[in-house]
Amino acid sequence: MPITLKDVQFSFDELEKPLFEQVNLVLDTQWRLGLVGRNGRGKTTLLKLLMNDYAYSGTISSTTAFRYFPQKLLHPDWPVYTAIDEVMPIEQWKFERECQLLQLEKDIIWQPFEQLSGGEQTKVLLAALFCDEASYILLDEPTNHLDAQGRALLATYLKTKKGYLIVSHDRHFLDEVIDHVLAIERSQLVLYKGNFSTYRQQKAHQDHYELAQNERLKAEIHRLDRTAKEKAQWAASKEASSHDAQVRADAARMMKRSKAIEKRVAAQVTEKTKLLHNIESVSDLTMNCLVRHRNPVLRVKNLTLSYGDVSLFQPISFELYQGEQLAITGANGSGKTALLAYLFTKKSDGEVTGEVLISPQLTMSMVKQQYEYVGTLKAFAAEQKIDYTHFLTNLRVLGMERDVFNVPIERMSAGQKKKVAFAKSLGQPAELYLWDEPLNYLDIWNQQQIEKMLRHYKPTLLFVEHDPQFIDSVATKIVELKR
Ligand SMILES: Nc1ncnc2c1ncn2[C@@H]1O[C@H](COP(=O)(O)OP(=O)(O)OP(=O)(O)O)[C@@H](O)[C@H]1O
Ligand SMILES: [Mg+2]
Repeated sequence: MPITLKDVQFSFDELEKPLFEQVNLVLDTQWRLGLVGRNGRGKTTLLKLLMNDYAYSGTISSTTAFRYFPQKLLHPDWPVYTAIDEVMPIEQWKFERECQLLQLEKDIIWQPFEQLSGGEQTKVLLAALFCDEASYILLDEPTNHLDAQGRALLATYLKTKKGYLIVSHDRHFLDEVIDHVLAIERSQLVLYKGNFSTYRQQKAHQDHYELAQNERLKAEIHRLDRTAKEKAQWAASKEASSHDAQVRADAARMMKRSKAIEKRVAAQVTEKTKLLHNIESVSDLTMNCLVRHRNPVLRVKNLTLSYGDVSLFQPISFELYQGEQLAITGANGSGKTALLAYLFTKKSDGEVTGEVLISPQLTMSMVKQQYEYVGTLKAFAAEQKIDYTHFLTNLRVLGMERDVFNVPIERMSAGQKKKVAFAKSLGQPAELYLWDEPLNYLDIWNQQQIEKMLRHYKPTLLFVEHDPQFIDSVATKIVELKR
């Protein structure tokens, strides 16, 4: 079944340029379509347009209904099944079947939704959506809270489904689950047949061609420009100094040639301006790490956290020295976030056994997994006591467009909000950084920037991340939380 977009145009008042201009597309609901693009390019907005959530000009027509992940629940404190059934009625047996395919415990559907871990919440919401076989499913970043195992499981699950549209910044995951790509590039939307890697290859090829073409035109324009000027100068001097008719005719001819060359220059300049519009520029991030003579920075001995009688994980012991990057790994729900929160605040609402040696003077900076920042960037920087200019510079380097600086944080895209949380931490002078899933919501260019920055600054860092490639390239030590 085709989904047709005709002359679709949409803008947010706060932004200088329309997000979409004259979009014309025909999509097929049989496709496993990956929607990709840098943070803030309009992926979520495009899905919301399909859902008819925003007013736009142009037409979007489709004979299929759409469903959007993540669904908004009205009562997240209710049991999972009841809370979901309230916003999208589903048959219980179907829901149980899909939950089982996603390897969830049978009784999970009777637990309060909000008590489930991020990964579990994702899975029950997905299970509910796929009970509806008649709709075309729009998945907006379902991978974020899933660990490596959860992502592999989701990939297997999706392969048993027919068409869907999916947004994700996880390249390896995308390669497994899509057969078409819709890319929102800097100034155009492009549709490719193939997976994410084929798209990236073709895009790299195109970028390479444009860069080469740009260099060639630049040199050519420079050369022609000089020739035209020389010819014009020669003609002008002859014209002025001679009364000989033949010389004056030669000068006129030469002037004419000079004008013709200038025309060629103008044509090449026009051609040159058509290039490079879709090339992403990526520069380096900076951070404010502090180095003091405290070593180790942190010592943990037989530590475990428990709620009631249940320990979240088996006791762990480790030391963290200056300049080390320690990855905390473990399945969804194993207590990674709880551990980071405890180290940061030295408080826990459960019980703590074991020892933690952490100086009261140690300065720390945290990137949380969940954050609800609001208001303007300026007020935020003042509240967090960070340097506003450095903050904005890092946001620009992370790819946030300047006009977005006027958008209040609560209205920013998911990735832009994450950039705010992340740039805040980079601006905080600290001896120890605690980052909980720093890559979530960020685009692939950011992921590469962060790796490079960490290699350069070597901050003392304790982090949680599911991306095995990132852990591999960044961690100097790994501590696994086991049940
Ligand atoms: N209600 C709003 N008012 C003003 N601007 C908005 C609003 N919602 C989104 N925007 C802006 O529109 C742009 C597109 O946002 P959108 O959420 O569609 O991006 P996205 O591609 O999904 O990004 P991400 O990868 O970060 O999720 C962003 O620059 C965002 O700040
Ligand atoms: Mg989005």
